Amino acid sequence: MSLKVLVIGSEGQIGTELCSELEKRNDIILYRADIRIQTDRERRLYCLDATDKGSVEQLIKEHQINEVYLMAALLSAKSEENPSLAWHLNMNSLLHLLDIARQGRFQKLFWPSSIAVFGPDSPKVTTPQNCVINPTTVYGISKRSGEFWCDYYFRKYGVDVRSIRFPGLISHATEPGGGTTDYSVAMIKEAVSKGRYTCYLKSDTILPMLFMPDAVKATLAIMDAPKSSITVRTSYNLGGFETSPELIARSIRRFIPEFELDYSLDFRQKIAESWPQSINDEAAVNDWGFGVEYDLDLTVQEMIRAVE
Ligand code: SER
Repeated sequence: MSLKVLVIGSEGQIGTELCSELEKRNDIILYRADIRIQTDRERRLYCLDATDKGSVEQLIKEHQINEVYLMAALLSAKSEENPSLAWHLNMNSLLHLLDIARQGRFQKLFWPSSIAVFGPDSPKVTTPQNCVINPTTVYGISKRSGEFWCDYYFRKYGVDVRSIRFPGLISHATEPGGGTTDYSVAMIKEAVSKGRYTCYLKSDTILPMLFMPDAVKATLAIMDAPKSSITVRTSYNLGGFETSPELIARSIRRFIPEFELDYSLDFRQKIAESWPQSINDEAAVNDWGFGVEYDLDLTVQEMIRAVE
């Protein structure tokens, strides 16, 4: 029997590429839901507000969904601009699904967390899975709280919820949703289209990043892993590669030597400075076999090829 999979936030930065991969699997029936699309039942597309519990529950019941990927969220920069919307969307969408899962309506949930859970008190380099975690951004607060809820629902009700703390995600298929790490995407795209870019982070601001195919591969790997191998029920650290605006520029110049980069810093610098530079992801490697395929140069090469 085919597995019925629902992706909420299917048109977003991760959702788009996750759906493309899920579609390749012939043992899956994929349902896409997003607030930005029109319902087209024949194509299994549903206009859905992720915070509307009744509608989410109805969709899951009607189609007897087995697995849900909740990818709808407001990222860090947008969350600072609208804290109450960030809390409402990031938290209620998760709490509703945890509750629907608790009633046995579906069997497995994926929910992305972020390196934004870490704050200035956390070690900056090779940040461990468990350390002092005091987020100072609205987004980080919502993700850290969500992690606690995931762990709570697993311990108390046995809800099989799985989560990854994503680093900055670099991708070309869909625009990112207002994150701090999104300068990387904008820089590569503008290098191709304009030959220049003005960056809002300092040249040497180091953050961990991951190319989307690796992020999708990790998401599917954690969901495919046997339940017994998932030992972390808050959220798994995931690394990728460390980079900075100047390092990305250097990598771009291998293809576009005349690329010009200048700087005009804004509030996102402070957000970036509160986050880790690199991540210890040995729990993910040991428990469900995560491995990075794309380093910085390969990511930039693929991005340039795709957007040219
Ligand atoms: N990419 C995210 C952001 O910058 C971090 O998870 O908001």
